[in-house]
Amino acid sequence: MRIDIITVLPEILESPLNHSIIKRAKEKGLVEIHIHNLRNFSENKHRRVDDYSFSKGAGMVMAIQPIEKAIEVLKSEREYDEIIFTTPDGTAFNQREANMLSLKENIIILCGHYKGIDQRIRDYYITKEISIGDYVLTGGELAAVVITDSTVRLIPGVLSDETSALTDSFQDCLLSPPVYTRPIEYKGMKIPDILLSGNDKLIDDWKYNQAVERTKKLRPDLYKKFIGEE
Ligand code: ADE
Repeated sequence: MRIDIITVLPEILESPLNHSIIKRAKEKGLVEIHIHNLRNFSENKHRRVDDYSFSKGAGMVMAIQPIEKAIEVLKSEREYDEIIFTTPDGTAFNQREANMLSLKENIIILCGHYKGIDQRIRDYYITKEISIGDYVLTGGELAAVVITDSTVRLIPGVLSDETSALTDSFQDCLLSPPVYTRPIEYKGMKIPDILLSGNDKLIDDWKYNQAVERTKKLRPDLYKKFIGEE
């Protein structure tokens, strides 16, 4: 998979996408992540990437020219399955969407900034608008990191059997069960006896029941989906 991220703040993306599982996925050749500075595509002599809005008092808008150039240059080199725009008014991102994206070959993520981009760029180029939650970030870079991180770890071969995505929270509309490590007793609290029983079947049943109970208690919305009510 190849992910091209277009941003006015490349520094924000570099560190989070260069560690741990994502770093190893890149080293294994399972993903290529290319970060492009939008200013490098600006034809303005001051490398400006914003412009005035026609809606009075609405703040600056990302200029059309550098975005068009960046997308056209990339599109001339390969075909893209999705051109994503990160914006608080996009559709809500979730594990299902991460699963779908992990099956794509080439995607572009355009990080929103200022008061957004000209609607015509959205209409012409953007195939998917994504929000990572009902709050407003200072820019779309953190959203691009969230989308990239959650997608890359699902690419086959990225996670080992032990960290398999199949046991993740949300993968089947259930939160994960609790986990324990040593010592067996901590501040008077003991690890549940079943986990010490050595009986794999009992342990699996316990984990499943815990996942169901936690989901019912903590995320009634998700639980409804799990039991097929939604
Ligand atoms: N840009 C600003 N806020 C955002 C959000 N919640 N999701 C995606 N992009 C954003």
